[in-house]
Amino acid sequence: MTVSQNSNKAHTPIDFASIQSLTENEAKAVDQLILEELTSDVVLINQIGHYIINSGGKRLRPMLLLLTAKALNYQQDNHLVLAAVIEFIHTATLLHDDVVDESDLRRGKETANAVWGNAASVLVGDYLYSSAFEMMVRTNNMRVMEILSKTTTAIAEGEVLQLLNCNSPATTEAKYLEVISRKTAILFSAATRLGAVLADASPEIEQNLADYGQHLGIAFQLIDDALDYTSSKDKLGKNLGDDLAEGKPTLPLIYAIENGTEEQANIIIDAIKTGNRDSFNEVYAIVKATNAITYTEQRADDEAQQAIDALSNLPDSEFKNALEVLARFSVQRNY
Ligand code: IPE
Ligand code: IPE
Ligand code: MG
Ligand code: MG
Repeated sequence: MTVSQNSNKAHTPIDFASIQSLTENEAKAVDQLILEELTSDVVLINQIGHYIINSGGKRLRPMLLLLTAKALNYQQDNHLVLAAVIEFIHTATLLHDDVVDESDLRRGKETANAVWGNAASVLVGDYLYSSAFEMMVRTNNMRVMEILSKTTTAIAEGEVLQLLNCNSPATTEAKYLEVISRKTAILFSAATRLGAVLADASPEIEQNLADYGQHLGIAFQLIDDALDYTSSKDKLGKNLGDDLAEGKPTLPLIYAIENGTEEQANIIIDAIKTGNRDSFNEVYAIVKATNAITYTEQRADDEAQQAIDALSNLPDSEFKNALEVLARFSVQRNY
């Protein structure tokens, strides 16, 4: 599938499928592992687990781990189990996130909480987290466990920090960046760092790859937060306006408050305080008029460039090239 551009800048179209094909066999093995691990004699776990895993998803985080390991010429197979672990952790956060955000559409389907209720979603999310830890222990590698346990702690901190910022129009860009670094970027960074750890890379290369993942993750969430206003339900597979409904002060709103007229700022401030969808059209018009979307996309572009720059010490290969392309994809995507 070819991705069109978000901003006015000229971009080379990105062929996501050809990047996917570089790790096609490994990705199949990862999906197989995921399905095996979802098997439980508790029926509801099977049902919800298969429902969300089979509803698709870009599988971007496992792909990053696989590509990183391959870019460093890793020859064994622990990258498969760790890629599955990363997708399990991601899926657990989505199950929890949709409860917290009261979202009812994900990956083009009703969310698990919409179908089975909040309690079931939270508990199956916990099951996925626990399964992820059970699987990672199999690598018998203390560094791996240290990285992943720190990562899940930081994600939880990010989600709680975000909860504290909800309905608070005084949230600054710096506070917002702190939230998205933890809730989203740290998992991307763990995925790319783990590729380096498995391949026994030098501390410098490991840090380069962790930096790549961190910048990429920030770019990815910046665009996700823009898409919550600019995309369409059909393309995104999620309802627009979920962030506004939650009173979430994301960068498009923060920038619009700072750069709009007093009247425009007050409308956004009220919308954040109230947290509902009623003012979506009005808020969206202000966000566009104040160039808040363009600013958010530019910040994402900067982060993607920093991600690409962090790869400069990596030996040239088609895998390194794919990592560069994925950094651009994260910004240019519309789903
Ligand atoms: C959604 O992530 C959650 C965010 C961090 C924005 P993805 O957009 O990678 O979700 P899937 O896995 O492709 O559905
Ligand atoms: C990402 O934030 C949530 C996680 C890191 C779990 P969002 O709340 O914006 O993600 P979506 O838009 O629901 O996928
Ligand atoms: Mg959400
Ligand atoms: Mg979102």
